[in-house]
Amino acid sequence: MYHMDVKKLFSLEGKKGFVTGGAQGIGACLAHAFAALGAEVGVVDINLAKASATAEKIAQETGRKVKAYVCDVTKADQAEKMVQEFIADFGELNFAVNNAGIFTGDGVLDIDAKTFESVIDVNLNGVFYTAQAAARQMVRQGKGGSIVSTASMSAHIVNRPQTIANYCASKAGVIQLAKSMAVELAKYRIRCNTVSPGYIQTDLIATMKDMLPVWGGMMPEGSRLGFPEDLIGAYVYFVSDASEFATGSDLVVDGGYTIV
Ligand SMILES: NC(=O)c1ccc[n+]([C@@H]2O[C@H](COP(=O)([O-])OP(=O)(O)OC[C@H]3O[C@@H](n4cnc5c(N)ncnc54)[C@H](O)[C@@H]3O)[C@@H](O)[C@H]2O)c1
Repeated sequence: MYHMDVKKLFSLEGKKGFVTGGAQGIGACLAHAFAALGAEVGVVDINLAKASATAEKIAQETGRKVKAYVCDVTKADQAEKMVQEFIADFGELNFAVNNAGIFTGDGVLDIDAKTFESVIDVNLNGVFYTAQAAARQMVRQGKGGSIVSTASMSAHIVNRPQTIANYCASKAGVIQLAKSMAVELAKYRIRCNTVSPGYIQTDLIATMKDMLPVWGGMMPEGSRLGFPEDLIGAYVYFVSDASEFATGSDLVVDGGYTIV
């Protein structure tokens, strides 16, 4: 009935883009998946040594062109420079995944301004700076593009018992930021979407291993905590042409945590 090449719809062949926070965890997993599906990928991180090792490994395993870039996403000028370096190497930017994020917490009565701001700076301002630099490049190219940012289920619910108000606020901000950018950039055929993962077992939560059964108990019976691989489908959907009609969307991938 429909004469559509479905494999082409989800293929990333010929697409070029970067993943921030790509040195490890969710970002490294995504960079690997994108390259395996045919993309050429920039692994962007504040930790260049780790980003380089990750990029090299992905290139070896997939046979694709994968390069590492150093960038502190909290610095707008570094984000611009990273995109220019990416263009010098790859020639074009078709997708950007703004995924670098941190959390550090204290209760709302005790948290100091510096700690509060550090999380907003990486998770919200940092997402904006790399998304903005990517959008400017995509406008220059005139061919549209896909910008995907990592939010969190913490944008929708408040995590317990840990106290991470700054993290929750930053992630809620990421969703509304993406929607705002989606509206402004629609006329350039630049789509802006977010993925909201639930608990994913990476270094980010490695210091909270004793909490895993507690969080598991807050989920639907029979569900489980996630792994980076559980997010591949969501990001591939947004980066690929399969999501041509999706912009300003947020896709929650959390094993059902937020529905109970
Ligand atoms: N792990 C989870 O449970 C979970 C759940 C929901 C959302 N997330 C989000 O997913 C994203 C990735 O998380 P992860 O679990 O892979 O974390 P991670 O700690 O394993 O990796 C984060 C990466 O970001 C990099 N980074 C940190 N600050 C940076 C900066 N200023 N500039 C550039 N790079 C920087 C780190 O060097 C690291 O490589 C984050 O935005 C996080 O908030 C994670």
